[in-house]
Amino acid sequence: MNNISIYNFDNLPSTNEWAKENFNKLNKTKINFITANQQTNGQGSHGRSWESPLGGIYCTICFHNDKCGNPTTITLASAVTICSYFESIGIKLNIKWPNDIICNKKKIGGILSEYSDNWLIVGFGLNINLSKDNLIDINRPIFPATSLKIEGFNNLNCSKILHELYEYFPKEILKWNESGISKFIDGYEKYNILTDKNLLINVNNEKVTGKYKELGSDGELIILDNHTSKKIFSGEILKLE
Ligand code: BTN
Repeated sequence: MNNISIYNFDNLPSTNEWAKENFNKLNKTKINFITANQQTNGQGSHGRSWESPLGGIYCTICFHNDKCGNPTTITLASAVTICSYFESIGIKLNIKWPNDIICNKKKIGGILSEYSDNWLIVGFGLNINLSKDNLIDINRPIFPATSLKIEGFNNLNCSKILHELYEYFPKEILKWNESGISKFIDGYEKYNILTDKNLLINVNNEKVTGKYKELGSDGELIILDNHTSKKIFSGEILKLE
């Protein structure tokens, strides 16, 4: 594991924010993992907050990269990596484009990727041992929040999972660095929850509808509306049926 550097904290406002404030402490030639046992100001997508009590995994992977202008593809590659790791320990998860990690049609995790000063900052939060009380304040479209414990996966050890992810992620990041999303498309389709679904998507406050067709080469969602293909580069799925 000499290609990674690990920065563990008991408590941080946000591992993504810490990474962005401390590029000078990070190793430019390695993959840096920043983790916290809990966060007091966890950041979610669409400007939401991310509830981060003890019992979850809060991790930011940060690496230097001078060519990425579009972090959606690393979000998707990371989602595939997370799903395939959990499958290896017997837990079937799904991806809801672009950044939601789903278990039994409920949300157990999410990814927030950012690009700043030639660093990629890929933060993921996973609700592992959270109780129902930890989740009452979370309000998300369609899939309600849950944790793996609530879904019946007891006795998961966050620190063991993190150590296994430290082993799992670097080769996937190298794969992404070399060939972008292309080697993740099959994995994405395997875990994709949108297959054959009709979608209602919020795109810049406009409602767009269509049936899932495929993932495009830039990680965009391609949908079909009355035989017309539409590409969605960013948006939030509000409904699928
Ligand atoms: C989402 O809204 O689905 C994305 C959630 C991302 C949460 C993680 S937890 C670790 C990292 N630090 C943060 O502040 N946010 C991300």
